[in-house]
Amino acid sequence: MLGFNAYAGFFEICSPKKGKYVFASAASGVIGQLVGQLAKLHGCYVVGSAGTSQKNKLGFNEDFNCKEELDLDAALKRYFQQGIDIYFDNVGGDMLDAALPNMRIHGRIALCGAVSQFGLSKPHGIHNLFNLIIKSAKMEGFAQHNYLHLYPRFLEYVIGYYKQGKIVYIEDMNEGLESALAAFVGLFSRKNVGKQVIHVASE
Ligand SMILES: NC(=O)c1ccc[n+]([C@@H]2O[C@H](COP(=O)([O-])OP(=O)(O)OC[C@H]3O[C@@H](n4cnc5c(N)ncnc54)[C@H](OP(=O)(O)O)[C@@H]3O)[C@@H](O)[C@H]2O)c1
Repeated sequence: MLGFNAYAGFFEICSPKKGKYVFASAASGVIGQLVGQLAKLHGCYVVGSAGTSQKNKLGFNEDFNCKEELDLDAALKRYFQQGIDIYFDNVGGDMLDAALPNMRIHGRIALCGAVSQFGLSKPHGIHNLFNLIIKSAKMEGFAQHNYLHLYPRFLEYVIGYYKQGKIVYIEDMNEGLESALAAFVGLFSRKNVGKQVIHVASE
C-alpha cells in the first residue's frame, strides 16, 4: 500500500510529462524510491535526496546525500540548474522550504509526508510560500485513501514493470525478532537504507 502513495501522488497530483525535472525527497524510503523510478519510466529527469547515495541502485539521474549538504537551497540549485517542475515531498520542513524558491513556473509540489517534523514539539516554519504565487505553482497534499479506485491500475502497472526488472525495491532486512528493537531504534537515527523489515520466520 505504501507504494500506492507513490503512484497516486505522482500521477494524480504531479501531472507528470516527459522531460520534466523531478525531485523526490526521502528517496531511499518506500515511497520516494518508487516515485523516482515511476518518474524515470515516464521519461523525466530525476534527482533524489536521501541519507545515503542510491543512484546506482535505483537508476536516478542524480542523487545527493542531504545529511552532507549544509545549504539545501544551494544543493538544489546545483542539481536543478533549470529549476524543479515536480517536487514529491516526503520530508517537509527545511527541504520543502528550500524547494519552494527552486520551483519552475507552473511547478507542482505533492505533499505526501513530513517525516523530518515527526516528534518536534515545534515544527519548523515554511518561509518561502510566496514562491507559489510568483511561479504560478501548485502545492497539494494528498492521502492515499482518496485514490483507492486506482489501486487495481497501480498493481497492473507496477507488477508489470517489476517482472521486467524495470522497477526494483530496496529494503533493509534484519534477521530474527530479537533484532527488532535495535532496528526500531535505528529508524530514528536513520540507519536503515530502504524499508526496515524484520524477518521473523520463513514459515
Ligand atoms: N500521504 C499519505 O497517504 C501517506 C501514507 C503513508 C506515508 N506517508 C508519508 O510518506 C513519507 C514517506 O513514507 P515511507 O513509507 O516511504 O517512509 P520510509 O520507508 O520509512 O522512509 C522514510 C525515509 O525518510 C528519511 N528520513 C527519516 N528521518 C528524516 C528526517 N528527519 N529528515 C529527512 N529525511 C528523513 C529516511 O531516509 P534517509 O535517512 O536515507 O534520508 C527514511 O528512510 C513519510 O513522511 C510518511 O509519513 C504518507
